[in-house]
Amino acid sequence: MSDRFTLDSHLPEDYLATALAADVRAGLGATPKTLPPKWFYDERGSELFDQITELPEYYPTRTERELLRTHSGDVAVACPADTLVELGSGSSEKTRLLLDALDKAGTLRRYVPVDVSPGALIPASEALLADYRELEVHGLIADFEKHLDHLPDADRRIIAFLGGTIGNLTPAQRADFLSGIRAGMGPADSFLLGTGLVIDPAILVPAYDDAAGVTAEFNKNVLHVINRDLSADFDIDSFEHVAVWDSVNEWIEMRLRSRTDQQVRIADLDLSLTIAAGEEIRTEISAKFQRAGIEAELAAAGFTVTHWWTDPDQRFALSLSEPA
Ligand code: SAH
Ligand code: AVI
Repeated sequence: MSDRFTLDSHLPEDYLATALAADVRAGLGATPKTLPPKWFYDERGSELFDQITELPEYYPTRTERELLRTHSGDVAVACPADTLVELGSGSSEKTRLLLDALDKAGTLRRYVPVDVSPGALIPASEALLADYRELEVHGLIADFEKHLDHLPDADRRIIAFLGGTIGNLTPAQRADFLSGIRAGMGPADSFLLGTGLVIDPAILVPAYDDAAGVTAEFNKNVLHVINRDLSADFDIDSFEHVAVWDSVNEWIEMRLRSRTDQQVRIADLDLSLTIAAGEEIRTEISAKFQRAGIEAELAAAGFTVTHWWTDPDQRFALSLSEPA
């Protein structure tokens, strides 16, 4: 491994297992049943997500990539940062466009990918170290909902949150998250945010229910994770993937619907669940935004939006904000 790579966890050894156990106990003990989306992303889930990004129906990744291709130079001019911090960095694939722009501006020194999934973060870091011969990579295995105080300082940082992942947080989680980011920012730092916009449900829904069934596999992967990591016995084939557009909350909801009445045992939690035929577990929301709405959320957290870029079909937006 390169001497330009450092990897920090800052988490207790058993943090991920303990947090998964707590989330599963709380979420599956509630009515209706829910599971937080962060647990999709073990090695297989991260691979399935990468496959999703290449599906014809899944427009967000390619739309955001084009926005980054066009505007990364503008981002680097607005904030000539020495450090790029990326939350929920995944494969760090689109990030290369930002790294290239900062490199060209002559300011780039360090990239800090932050992800709860080591299976995504480590190979992504290795690939970047091979391709960017002077870049320092400081990986952080952390939960961006809980560990923002572990982000390293620098003279000038861009903190990026791409992919529309902000939409996977509930409004209350988003408010806490944005305030947490803002609280840790210095006056010269900027926040680069990718947000999916509200569009026609006829385009949105297939993006979350693709013909090849990759999103269905991704959705069900959370049950594989619970079976493996908490010694549970979910019969995965007895659940079907559901994606619906909630026009009141303006979010896509992914659910797993039980095809049968069933009992599930989660041995590590000493928990037995009864799940009725037709009962659904909500596994993800993916909120889409109107410009005024997300600007108001950013303002409430203490940001001023200085740049707003969208694609011609207004499907996705990149915004750059600074501390107000
Ligand atoms: N930003 C990339 C990846 C998006 S997939 C892109 O735009 O393509 C979402 C990523 O966020 C996954 O890698 C997942 O492991 C990570 N993630 C989800 N919830 C997280 C959390 N609470 N803390 C840290 N990482 C999280
Ligand atoms: C990571 N996140 C922004 C994706 C999304 O679009 O909400 C996760 C995803 N869920 C289903 N497909 C992709």
